[in-house]
Amino acid sequence: MLDRIKSLLGLAKIRAQYIRPLKDQDINDVLGIEQQVYNYPWSRGIFKDCLRVGYSNWALIKDDVFVGYAILSVAVGEAHILNICVDPSCKRQGLGQFFLNEVIGAAKTMRADCIFLEVRLSNVAAIELYKKMGFKQIGQRKNYYPAAEGKEDAMVYSLDIAVYDREK
Ligand SMILES: CC(C)(COP(=O)(O)OP(=O)(O)OC[C@H]1O[C@@H](n2cnc3c(N)ncnc32)[C@H](O)[C@@H]1OP(=O)(O)O)[C@@H](O)C(=O)NCCC(=O)NCCS
Repeated sequence: MLDRIKSLLGLAKIRAQYIRPLKDQDINDVLGIEQQVYNYPWSRGIFKDCLRVGYSNWALIKDDVFVGYAILSVAVGEAHILNICVDPSCKRQGLGQFFLNEVIGAAKTMRADCIFLEVRLSNVAAIELYKKMGFKQIGQRKNYYPAAEGKEDAMVYSLDIAVYDREK
């Protein structure tokens, strides 16, 4: 009955996917995704530190299931996306775009004017997502990441939040 009322009011759809603050209890879910998608995954200790130092840490929930996480540092008007990940079993369903949009909104709420991030040169999916959301490439760091053969460059992207239209 409650579901029917929610559905009639359109609330069921609104709640189907949302973000909430990341918690210690989420770390096993985080690691489950992290270890699938990266060749050089962050450790449990790194995620614990992210929670301890008070970064802006977010969980993405879809139909009551944990499907992604993002780690953001925000200081003196600048935000830095340190990690953003969607469960590979849910990819290409618009969740990455939804999540990034929400994370940008969170940064704006924390009075950031711009967002920076680094991404591997070979990470086509993430680069296309950032470009779609209006990020511009502002630099390239040589040999920034470990790679199977030597090192890999990082592309540096930024977004001017002041001109970003979340409803677009
Ligand atoms: C990058 C990532 C978050 C995208 O999540 P997603 O839910 O699959 O993305 P979406 O379905 O919202 O796609 C949004 C847009 O991103 C781009 N995109 C996503 N996956 C892509 C792919 N495999 N190839 C090319 N473009 C892609 C497209 O522009 C897409 O828009 P479209 O569907 O209209 O073409 C996800 O692939 C991921 O978690 N990757 C591993 C972690 C990672 O690399 N994070 C970034 C670290 S810098």
